[in-house]
Amino acid sequence: MKYKQQDQTKTFFEKDATNWKKKSIFSKNKLLNTITERNLYVISQIKKYKLRSLIDVGCGTGDLSYEASKFTKYSLGLDFAKSMIKLANKKFKNKNLEFIEGSLFNFETSSKFDCVSANGFIEYISLKDIENFIDISRNLLTKNGYLVFGTRNRLFNLFSLNKFSVSELKKRTYRNFFEESVHLTHLNFKKFIKLKKTKFEEVPFKQPNTGVNVDKRHQFSPLQLIDILNKKKFKIVDIHPINYHPVPPTVYRTNDNFRLFSNYIFKLNSDNKLPYIPFSSSFMISAKKK
Ligand SMILES: C[S@@+](CC[C@H](N)C(=O)[O-])C[C@H]1O[C@@H](n2cnc3c(N)ncnc32)[C@H](O)[C@@H]1O
Repeated sequence: MKYKQQDQTKTFFEKDATNWKKKSIFSKNKLLNTITERNLYVISQIKKYKLRSLIDVGCGTGDLSYEASKFTKYSLGLDFAKSMIKLANKKFKNKNLEFIEGSLFNFETSSKFDCVSANGFIEYISLKDIENFIDISRNLLTKNGYLVFGTRNRLFNLFSLNKFSVSELKKRTYRNFFEESVHLTHLNFKKFIKLKKTKFEEVPFKQPNTGVNVDKRHQFSPLQLIDILNKKKFKIVDIHPINYHPVPPTVYRTNDNFRLFSNYIFKLNSDNKLPYIPFSSSFMISAKKK
């Protein structure tokens, strides 16, 4: 499907491939960034549920597809930016690894996958296409397959105490998102996912610049995405914080120890990581096909 948001996304990422390649290097020895935390989370799900095949939608320079190919029989990276696929093919080779250039919305295959992953993807497509993406993923998945994807976190707007917060404060929905944040810190996972859902909709204000040159870069709260996933017959099995902020974004990058602590929260071995979600700029959802 062709529309402005996707055109801008393609233009941006075609030019950004070399830069993205540097940011997405998979190294456990350096400080983890959002990209690496998201990728490590997908790998954790592949290992946990012994998933044997992966399609990574919007694979960028292919780091996740390659890492996954060490644990799967077949790993496929799909991206509509030619420059990303070119770098992925140059950088990574494995006999069970393939990269394909093309949009998910034109992609045709008879293969089925145990896992569909998509990091940094749903923020760049329309709400209608997010629904299409979930339907397409359902079709691509084997019986009992897993859909694992990341999203920017709308709840973080309330705690980032920046321009996003000021815009949220003016909206009627502020109260809902605040309540959702309180629930995250008090309820266990089973109870949280049963709460009354928040409407699946776009952020109703022009978002401040985020460094990616597109007009619309979506953000959602967990209850907004759970709503749509349940309607599409997926069972939510986990929600995980990504890029936890121990201090506000204004000072976050002034000291590596802040990110060290953020990594500590990511790696924390705990049964319940919901309390960290409100303070995380992104989160991951793992959902099983019903
Ligand atoms: C933010 S980057 C994320 C890359 C990678 N998933 C990562 O986390 O490192 C988003 C990627 O999605 C790709 N993309 C966006 N819309 C797409 C579509 N409809 N089909 C395939 N790829 C798409 C872009 O070209 C870009 O490489």
